[in-house]
Amino acid sequence: MPTVFKADDLASNGMVFRGLMLDDKPCPARLSVFGDPVAHSASPPMHNAALSAREKGCQYVRILVKPDELEGALRNLPEAGFLGTNLTIPHKQAALEYVDAVSPESRLMGAINTVAVRGEKLHGFNTDGPGFAAAVEEKFAVELKTLRVLILGGGGGAGRAITVQCALLECPTIFVANRTTEKAEILSSEIEANLRIGITPIGLTLEALTNALSSVDLIVNATPLGMKPLDPSPLPDGILTSAHLVYDTVYSGGKTALQRQALNVGARYANGLSMLLHQGALAYEIWFEEPAPLEIMRAALENSLL
Ligand SMILES: NC(=O)c1ccc[n+]([C@@H]2O[C@H](COP(=O)([O-])OP(=O)(O)OC[C@H]3O[C@@H](n4cnc5c(N)ncnc54)[C@H](OP(=O)(O)O)[C@@H]3O)[C@@H](O)[C@H]2O)c1
Repeated sequence: MPTVFKADDLASNGMVFRGLMLDDKPCPARLSVFGDPVAHSASPPMHNAALSAREKGCQYVRILVKPDELEGALRNLPEAGFLGTNLTIPHKQAALEYVDAVSPESRLMGAINTVAVRGEKLHGFNTDGPGFAAAVEEKFAVELKTLRVLILGGGGGAGRAITVQCALLECPTIFVANRTTEKAEILSSEIEANLRIGITPIGLTLEALTNALSSVDLIVNATPLGMKPLDPSPLPDGILTSAHLVYDTVYSGGKTALQRQALNVGARYANGLSMLLHQGALAYEIWFEEPAPLEIMRAALENSLL
């Protein structure tokens, strides 16, 4: 089991973290991921490989933070000597309220996954949206801004960040589909009000999906369907074609039902590993204001998920 620290360890000026060792050398923790649960997080190996390669003299740790501990844990970061933290389930939305500054883009995404300590202040960022854009460009060798897109699961945290990113890039057509159609309608209205970009909200019905698929290039799965091996695909059989690109944000385990559908019709597809990598690389760049060692992070991430 990986080492998991507690929110209480951040109190008392973070003395627990200052005294840490790595490979028999003093190596304080100055970065972390807050989550509940957090033991599963793939971020520590990815970031620790980058910190080691760039000789930053610090490490990145997992901290179990309960929802009622989040505000205190964030507030304790500057005094504990931290440069920042990542946030995972269930903290991405709530943390928006506890930081001192956040970009309008991240606010519209409704969540932050990265916090940087600047002086005594906490700055919040969402790197999931830009990380998704970088992942699509890497995997399909095409700029996201040129693609007509359908996002499945726009009512969730990842789906919302991806939909806002597509709107920020002014993708020529954006459909957002959600099981609870009302949430897709609310998101579309908010984006239209803030960015003046038209988005078409639809339900996850055969008719609506068939219609949308006839006029999009890229289909994105941002639902949790596929995280469990026996999960069905969010798309009905028979509507995907070889001309579609499929980006499945799910990265755990083998091929999901959606990825198998894509394979069967000869469509190009990618899993969510590249999004995980790029959101992490962008967080590194926020903390250190220098390009991230992408290939070192990729190798560590892939190794950790073997
Ligand atoms: N690759 C990466 O870096 C990365 C980063 C973040 C997340 N993700 C992935 O993104 C996915 C969503 O994560 P999240 O944190 O955004 O989750 P979330 O906030 O819980 O959102 C879930 C979304 O999926 C929909 N949904 C849930 N169960 C469904 C079902 N059985 N059928 C159809 N739709 C369903 C929900 O619809 P309702 O609104 O109707 O409930 C909602 O829109 C996960 O697979 C996660 O692994 C990947």
